Amino acid sequence: MALTLDIPTQRTTASTLPQLDLSRLEFGQTFSDHMLVVDYHDGSWQQPRIVPYGPFEVSPANSALHYGQAIFEGMKAYKNSEGAITLFRPLDNLRRLNLSAERMCMPAVPEELFMQGLLQLIRVDAEWVPNAPGTSLYIRPFMFATDGMLGVRPSSTYRFVIITCPVAAFFNKPLRVRFEEKYVRSAEGGAGFAKNAGNYGAAMYPTKLAQQDGYNQLLWTDASEHRFIEESGTMNVMFVVDGRLITPAVSSSILDGITRKSVLQLARDWGMTVEERKVSSVEILEAQANGTLQEAFGVGTAVTIAPIAVIGYRGQDFELLPLSDDSFARRVSAALTDIRVGSAPDEHNWMVSI
Ligand code: COI
Repeated sequence: MALTLDIPTQRTTASTLPQLDLSRLEFGQTFSDHMLVVDYHDGSWQQPRIVPYGPFEVSPANSALHYGQAIFEGMKAYKNSEGAITLFRPLDNLRRLNLSAERMCMPAVPEELFMQGLLQLIRVDAEWVPNAPGTSLYIRPFMFATDGMLGVRPSSTYRFVIITCPVAAFFNKPLRVRFEEKYVRSAEGGAGFAKNAGNYGAAMYPTKLAQQDGYNQLLWTDASEHRFIEESGTMNVMFVVDGRLITPAVSSSILDGITRKSVLQLARDWGMTVEERKVSSVEILEAQANGTLQEAFGVGTAVTIAPIAVIGYRGQDFELLPLSDDSFARRVSAALTDIRVGSAPDEHNWMVSI
């Protein structure tokens, strides 16, 4: 990060900050005043710029719209009580963005461009970073193909953008999830490990069916046998069984979540047994039946830690005991918050100051 890019900034003349009401935030509906925009053509990234948040003009033949060459990331910035702003593991997001880019035949975003663009954008919109308990600035870097052509081949031009939005808790109560045994999110060898737009679009219909039945999210199972748990909705999923932390191992069909690996690291730091392996639905239901399933929760950037209260399986609902204050999920959630707002030491150098 030695290079300081000179990023021209066009400031908005109509800030919407005065209308921000932190008590009525709906995830992803209120956007900060500015965005970073960088175009790629002729084989290289062009001059980045910071401009007022606003719409783009795209060709009706835009190949991202037709063939889904579009990827994104999710990350967060935090403000502590002294007003200092930090980012949580941004380079891990860049690494994963570039893995997604490779899978989708898109150009990698260089570290200087990503980090300088990000830092300068957050500085410009520093007042948008909330500091009330449970709030943060959600950051959405994304890239999409911009060629206007209907041929099915990788685009030769792209746009990389970062937009941000202040957010509060994603879910406000423990989740009801259901094992999905008909539809699949991703198969081995597919693109489930990548954050490409199509993964999320294809999940909407099965999720809608579950929501019509009163569930919040699905517990996806593997594509070949529907035996092994993959992810839950837009989150990785974890279980505490008999004091051990168990989670599906990442694979070509499971996202390598940054919150996931942070939670596993803290569990290991605390001396807990951590198992990253195949986890079957039957194993979890048996643990629930014999009383050894102590906790189930989703983990992700948007949700952080989302406790699961009910697991549906083949028409039956299994209720989990409410999480106590000394449950692992609650302790790890508090530990992550403390690291993020600077009230606990950042032993793994996860935080980057703005
Ligand atoms: C995130 O946690 O950043 C996600 O990707 C979830 C998002 C699709 C809402």
